[in-house]
Amino acid sequence: MGNPLSSGNDLNVGIIGCGKIVEQYLTNFRRLESINLVAVSDLDSSRAQAVADSYDGVRAVSVEELLAANDIDLVLNLTIPAAHAEIALKAIAAGKSVYGEKPLAATTSEARQVLEAARTAGVVVGCAPDTVLGTGIQTARKAIDDGLIGAPVSATATMATPGHERWHPNPDFYYQPGGGPLLDMGPYYVSALVTLLGPVVSVVGAASHTRNERTIGSGPREGQQVPVAIDSHVTGVLVHASGALSTLFMSFDAVKTKSPNIEIHGEKGSLVVPDPNHFDGEVQLFALGAEDWETLPVSAGYVDSGRGFGIADLATTPAGQEPRAGGELAFHALEVMESVLESATSGKAVSIGSTAHRPAVVPLTELATAVRA
Ligand SMILES: NC(=O)c1ccc[n+]([C@@H]2O[C@H](COP(=O)([O-])OP(=O)(O)OC[C@H]3O[C@@H](n4cnc5c(N)ncnc54)[C@H](O)[C@@H]3O)[C@@H](O)[C@H]2O)c1
Repeated sequence: MGNPLSSGNDLNVGIIGCGKIVEQYLTNFRRLESINLVAVSDLDSSRAQAVADSYDGVRAVSVEELLAANDIDLVLNLTIPAAHAEIALKAIAAGKSVYGEKPLAATTSEARQVLEAARTAGVVVGCAPDTVLGTGIQTARKAIDDGLIGAPVSATATMATPGHERWHPNPDFYYQPGGGPLLDMGPYYVSALVTLLGPVVSVVGAASHTRNERTIGSGPREGQQVPVAIDSHVTGVLVHASGALSTLFMSFDAVKTKSPNIEIHGEKGSLVVPDPNHFDGEVQLFALGAEDWETLPVSAGYVDSGRGFGIADLATTPAGQEPRAGGELAFHALEVMESVLESATSGKAVSIGSTAHRPAVVPLTELATAVRA
């Protein structure tokens, strides 16, 4: 396989949903030779027009026009989670592959329909997060594969924040079903844990919340109260098929954590893994018998990457093979998260019906391309 970040496997992309996150994709598409952005659309046509005005050769169209276009291979779905399945299903029905922002859909029942429709239509489903393809998680993955910590026994994954209402002007959805710390931030952590330790076979969960209202901290609604309908502190234990146990701590009810985002422990060493919501960061090893932590050299992953690199990676995945940032992993991560919440309600362990292949390590890959207007 050639460098997936170079031309030769060009993919014509149309974006549906031009909100806050679109800018990060545009920045990276300008750097990725293999991605040809051709059209954009949004329910709010002025947002699509603003993107088209800023990117050479891109047209703003209606959602229907974009779905019907003959020059689009893949629809990039950057709508809100509640619309992910509906847009993905329409794109698949129009014969197009899809890559969506996380989560794959609001529920596993919707996500299953997306994967089944794609299988029937013979198109590809990809899904964020592609952060796990960056040098941070990939260097940690290579260290595990190279046996630096021996067989992994356990992991901790920690995300602590006092709540997004402190900075987000419209934080309502974070505190409604489908929101909460696990479904919002968990895709990064669970995808990383599966990438590092393999699929999950069962989970137990427990959850709580501190208050029934949150106060908006910025913007025109500053001072307004937002009702809380979900648990804002979620913990869980994931039992991996390998036997390793991961402990999750995802909270909108804490202030900060000094401990690393992810730690992996094996009999021969412990590994500090950087923030899975970022593409890079230091990986540190404390080997059995060593006197201190050592920072490992960067050894795998897309160098200096960002949101959208998962699509360039998908573009070179051989036909019939699951992409690294693929629907299978995204579905598995969603089922794990849904099951942790189910267990927190029932008080019982929940078996995970789906599985996912541990995606192949990304060789250390540099971008060698020009920046477009
Ligand atoms: N904002 C972030 O920092 C961030 C970071 C990582 C991932 N994400 C993910 O990206 C996705 C989008 O987030 P965002 O912050 O850009 O949201 P946003 O609300 O700013 O933008 C979403 C856009 O989608 C459009 N839209 C919604 N439904 C649509 C439909 N049916 N058809 C066409 N357009 C539709 C909206 O008009 C809006 O412009 C979410 O899944 C989110 O989890 C966001």
